[in-house]
Amino acid sequence: MSDPVPVLTIDGPSGSGKGTISRLVARRLGWHYLDSGALYRAVGVAAGWADLDLDDAGALVRCTFDTEIGFREGDGGELRVLVNGHDATDELRTETAGAAASAIAAIPEVRAALKDRQRAFRRAPGLVADGRDMGTVIFPDAPYKVFLTASAAERAERRYKQLKDKGVSVTMDGLLREILARDARDASRTVAPLRPAEGAVHIDTTGLGIDAVVERVLAVVAP
Ligand code: C5P
Repeated sequence: MSDPVPVLTIDGPSGSGKGTISRLVARRLGWHYLDSGALYRAVGVAAGWADLDLDDAGALVRCTFDTEIGFREGDGGELRVLVNGHDATDELRTETAGAAASAIAAIPEVRAALKDRQRAFRRAPGLVADGRDMGTVIFPDAPYKVFLTASAAERAERRYKQLKDKGVSVTMDGLLREILARDARDASRTVAPLRPAEGAVHIDTTGLGIDAVVERVLAVVAP
């Protein structure tokens, strides 16, 4: 029997740098990359387009089954996300989409419906999977697991810079409040709450540059 395809799971709270780090690590390893948050965000965006009520769990579950989500590489090598055939990459990254994703992600049937779509990303030569429950629920047998954190203040600051660069007007206070609220919701939900997987290597990225974090994560795969 052939060996299972290796997976490196990178879990952590919003703004811990998971997205940037996971993409760079995947590129360095030559492995595939799964941005699992994009799936929840895509359903959030589709629910917004359909004007669904975020309290209507039944409608949101149907929306999850009905939403087509595709990934492709953009001209600059960036990951583009297609929702029902429309490029929704920019809309996906808004705080509104993040908040909708977080509300939708608390529904057990939505999580169950997205399980197989996530596992389908496990293809040779390997996968870097970025999310909240990659090491605990989706790929519990992954040989490599990382839990990334950073102080809430630093996470809010990173988000602030990202959004400002895109010309989105936000305040630091508002962002910090949103991040803390999202953390609390993600950590306290009954299904797949945000918590480190057993055996995960914890890396606190507060005050660390991107390159330093990438090297630390790579060292988990090839010590
Ligand atoms: O990582 P990102 O900020 O894109 O995720 C958006 C939201 O999707 C998170 O706040 C979380 O509620 C949800 N999510 C999740 N499980 C994952 C990835 C994201 O519940 N594996």
